[in-house]
Amino acid sequence: MMHLLLFLAVLLATSITYAAPIQYESKKIFIISQKPTLIPHYMPQAKSATILANVTDPDLSRDSCGSVKMGFRTLWTCRDTAIRVPGTNQFAFVFANTAGWTDHQQDEAPAIQQGGPIGAGSDGTNSILLMKGPRPTLPTFYPLGPNMCPNSGACDDGASRWTAWPDSPPMVTDTALNGTVTAYTWVSNNKMVSSSMEQLTPQPSTTLFKMTYTPNLNPDVLPAVSTVDGNFWGEHEIAYGTYGNVVKGEYAYLYGLLHLGGVALARVPVDCVENKSQYEYYVDGKWTSTKPAIDDPAAAVPNAGTTGQGTFYFSDRAQSYVWIGQASISVSADFYISTAPNPEGPWTSPYLLYSGPNGDGDLPSYSLQAHPHMLREYDDGIYLTWTQYFKLSTYAAYVTPLVYVSFV
Ligand SMILES: *[C@@H]1O[C@H](CO)[C@@H](O)[C@H](O)[C@H]1NC(C)=O
Ligand SMILES: *[C@@H]1O[C@H](CO)[C@@H](O)[C@H](O)[C@H]1NC(C)=O
Ligand SMILES: *[C@@H]1O[C@H](CO)[C@@H](O)[C@H](O)[C@H]1NC(C)=O
Repeated sequence: MMHLLLFLAVLLATSITYAAPIQYESKKIFIISQKPTLIPHYMPQAKSATILANVTDPDLSRDSCGSVKMGFRTLWTCRDTAIRVPGTNQFAFVFANTAGWTDHQQDEAPAIQQGGPIGAGSDGTNSILLMKGPRPTLPTFYPLGPNMCPNSGACDDGASRWTAWPDSPPMVTDTALNGTVTAYTWVSNNKMVSSSMEQLTPQPSTTLFKMTYTPNLNPDVLPAVSTVDGNFWGEHEIAYGTYGNVVKGEYAYLYGLLHLGGVALARVPVDCVENKSQYEYYVDGKWTSTKPAIDDPAAAVPNAGTTGQGTFYFSDRAQSYVWIGQASISVSADFYISTAPNPEGPWTSPYLLYSGPNGDGDLPSYSLQAHPHMLREYDDGIYLTWTQYFKLSTYAAYVTPLVYVSFV
């Protein structure tokens, strides 16, 4: 054993910058071998955290928002959105999903303002990141399918509804030279009992939506949405793309949840998202074109998220993949983080990064999200948001705090 270690030590020491010419066809070329660098896992810790603002259009109470950069603004896609009854603090008329924009400062940081219109998350004096955009209308931003109690999703039985709730923000696959952005989103075709939120199809099929957007000064212009396939992933199939995604190099990497726990991974060339035969699936440590079953434990990528809601991204600064989100069974604003050198892993065991203030309702905090596109090149940290939910007697709207956590 000792001999082996010594041998390895000598080998490493002599290989530091060893260069020897070798003959390759008619040329002499140099092979430079270097001491293998052991890249330690990137494991940032929070140095400080600042609650900056509420992200809000004060006329709307918006649940579960995620964001992505499109053109010169940030697009937010949210779940249930209710409209403020004018002159009151009450919100009514629920839309299953909506979208809005926030602005950036010249230096690209989010354009937080001190004070603003009174309404959801804004008493007129506190800091807000103001969401702009059109009033919600039907059909919703991601339209409900023709079989889904159109157009609002609320069924005539008065007891059930189709939700069309986005789990992840749009995935941008292309920004053309003229600025036109192409993006995709996968949304589960969920039907639930309105009162209990019991899912009526436990492993629902998934709709693939496409978005195209040419940057426009008018914030009332939203991306155009089209339905590529209302059954892109079938019922009882892994809903790749709903749990999160990262576009890196030539591929889009898509995460989806397994039925009995765990996170699965697929990849597709970034310009072939609509073509199912171009997908590959990561099973048993290898890429294969055979789609695994939703309960296949070999399809699990350990620690690629906790299975709680969160965000995947690639950190250019750290040259590392990152997932930040909620613990698997949690209703608190406790943000866990896991990192990996590759989308396939190995992912570090998720650890607690930051705990934010909770609401006082039955689901105090959820839809934990990271917003990597808000970072300037020199920002070493991350912007985070979540949904705070309060008892009706405490506060009648959903609140979305924005926090900047700096890293050590
Ligand atoms: C967000 O809104 C809530 C409700 O109005 C308020 O209590 C809180 O102070 C606001 N947070 C910030 C950072 O402005
Ligand atoms: C921008 O370029 C895209 C792709 O090249 C093209 O499809 C689109 O029509 C162009 N849009 C405008 C407004 O020029
Ligand atoms: C989808 O990909 C397959 C396999 O590469 C290819 O043969 C087929 O033409 C593609 N379909 C479309 C519609 O592009």
